[in-house]
Amino acid sequence: MSTKKIVAVIPGDGIGPEVIDAALKVLEHVAPNKFEFKSVAMGGNAIDKYGEPLPAESLKTCQNADATLLGAVGGPKWDNVDPNIRPERGLLGVRKGLEVFANIRPAKIFQPLASACPLRKDIADKGIDFIIVRELTGGIYFGEHKAFTLNGERAASDLMQYTEHEIRRIAHVAFKMARGRRKLVTSVDKANILTSSRLWRDVVIDVAKEYPDIELNHMYVDNASMQMVRDPSQFDVIVTENTFGDILSDEASQIAGSIGMIPSASLGDNNRGLYEPIHGSAPDIAGQDKANPIATILAGAMMLRYSFDMNTEADRIERAVDEVLKAGFRTGDIYTDGTNLISGSKMLSEIITRL
Ligand code: IPM
Ligand code: MG
Repeated sequence: MSTKKIVAVIPGDGIGPEVIDAALKVLEHVAPNKFEFKSVAMGGNAIDKYGEPLPAESLKTCQNADATLLGAVGGPKWDNVDPNIRPERGLLGVRKGLEVFANIRPAKIFQPLASACPLRKDIADKGIDFIIVRELTGGIYFGEHKAFTLNGERAASDLMQYTEHEIRRIAHVAFKMARGRRKLVTSVDKANILTSSRLWRDVVIDVAKEYPDIELNHMYVDNASMQMVRDPSQFDVIVTENTFGDILSDEASQIAGSIGMIPSASLGDNNRGLYEPIHGSAPDIAGQDKANPIATILAGAMMLRYSFDMNTEADRIERAVDEVLKAGFRTGDIYTDGTNLISGSKMLSEIITRL
């Protein structure tokens, strides 16, 4: 008898539980009895039940697991809670607590969805296949947040801070990723304005010396957001700090067809990755069987690949997704004229059939 891998599962809020349920069924299908799934409360549901978005017990379960799979958290219901206990705080707490500093977000056109790409055809046809390596546990997200009074009026500030080692380790992740790809790293910053960006650039240039086989270029973030729609084929691996990566990865997901398609992996030094779709909790369609489960199913495939070295099973999942799309099945978010609009649960069963 082999020992099972422990996977902490955070269904979360909104459509989170539906898409997680689909992903677990797919995982169980490709690797029967290989996993023990431990459900963990985090997000708005945890606020309702325990008064905080990330109970200590929940974080401990994730820290003791071999990997964590997350649906989505948040929703309007918790918009007015104390900012310190918002659902998003729980997510940041999990990232920090697992020390997953490298967030990998692929942007790739699924061929059957090429018509869903909002870019002009001649631009899309040049090919879109890049990944964003987003720093995840530093920057404004984790710098000091202050609300105060200045000259008699309200003022607030959020500190963007990076240490050299935080930049160094994320740069290494990007260069290593590029080695398995087209060997090009674009480091995105705002070094014309920000001191933290100048340090970023300096350290990235230094790390690059260890990767003479990889080409490095630099781009200001405003230019990068423009280049991404002008000619996304120029990118292979983009490495950038937390907030810039948050913004650019939403843009990238749309270019790739739909935010409902894109999974992400957050990795640290210790292999206990965190895997999630990049979309949010979509409370407007929660509970209606409309949500596209593909991003979370693909996040499960990323988990098999990066945390468990189960590449064959991961390939099978990705192929099944591709075949379902080729067969013309679409949830609402990726529906276009002439395709077959189906529910989230039907999408799941079509994928399972093709496994
Ligand atoms: C993301 C999300 C999160 C982030 C929110 C929900 C805290 O936008 O994963 O990109 O800003 O990192
Ligand atoms: Mg985001």
